[in-house]
Amino acid sequence: MAGTEPLGRIRLGVNIDHVATVRNARGSAYPDPVRAAQLAEAAGADGITAHLREDRRHISDSDIDRLMEVLRVPLNFEMAPTDEMQAIALRHKPHAVCIVPEKREELTTEGGLDVARDENRLAHFIAPLRDAGCRVSMFVAADRAQVEAAQRIGAQVVELHAGAYCDSFSEGRFDESAAELERLRDMSAYGHSLGLEVHAGHGFTYDTVKPVAEFPEVMELNIGHFLIGEAIFVGLEAAIREMRRLMDEARA
Ligand code: PXP
Repeated sequence: MAGTEPLGRIRLGVNIDHVATVRNARGSAYPDPVRAAQLAEAAGADGITAHLREDRRHISDSDIDRLMEVLRVPLNFEMAPTDEMQAIALRHKPHAVCIVPEKREELTTEGGLDVARDENRLAHFIAPLRDAGCRVSMFVAADRAQVEAAQRIGAQVVELHAGAYCDSFSEGRFDESAAELERLRDMSAYGHSLGLEVHAGHGFTYDTVKPVAEFPEVMELNIGHFLIGEAIFVGLEAAIREMRRLMDEARA
């Protein structure tokens, strides 16, 4: 059971969605998110994350095909809990799937997927993905009811939504940010105690990554938007290497 495994190095998953956002802004063939994924691999990413949205606003079906072909590190396929996405995931059988909300009615007020409200359906939804060998993660708010529901439906992983912590910090609301950090700390420990592997993601920057990377129960961080933005100034490899360095420093 994951809850009794020794705690080790924290993994960095690089989310390349926003390379595709820039490409799609002009309807051109570049910049290519698959090339970015390969650069991220070379820079030390432990995995690549890509979210195929129902409206295909950034990543496309052919991006997923190509990622599955060329990646040497695991692909974490982010997807809404829909039949269409389930069929695509079952065709590709990526290393991991992360179930995320896309519609208002799937969201909790804090922004994660409302697993507690839709427990029965989601239990049936993830079962074939698990049976196909995908590691199933639920993207949830740092909320006890959501973490418990994720465990009950048979997910192996919870990814805690770090947006409330990161955004309040970036906007200078430091009391709120400190309170959100405590929620993440508590739910990391709680999720781990339930036997879940704990990840965190959404909104991390160089300024917000270390306090969460310090939590011994957190095994993986998924980071995209900031890294792609920073790549404009220093290049993608340098941005990833700096994020990796900060995570390792926090862990040490
Ligand atoms: N984790 C999940 C589940 C996500 O949906 C996203 C993208 O919103 C991220 C991590 C990465 O967030 P960001 O791009 O803000 O770093």
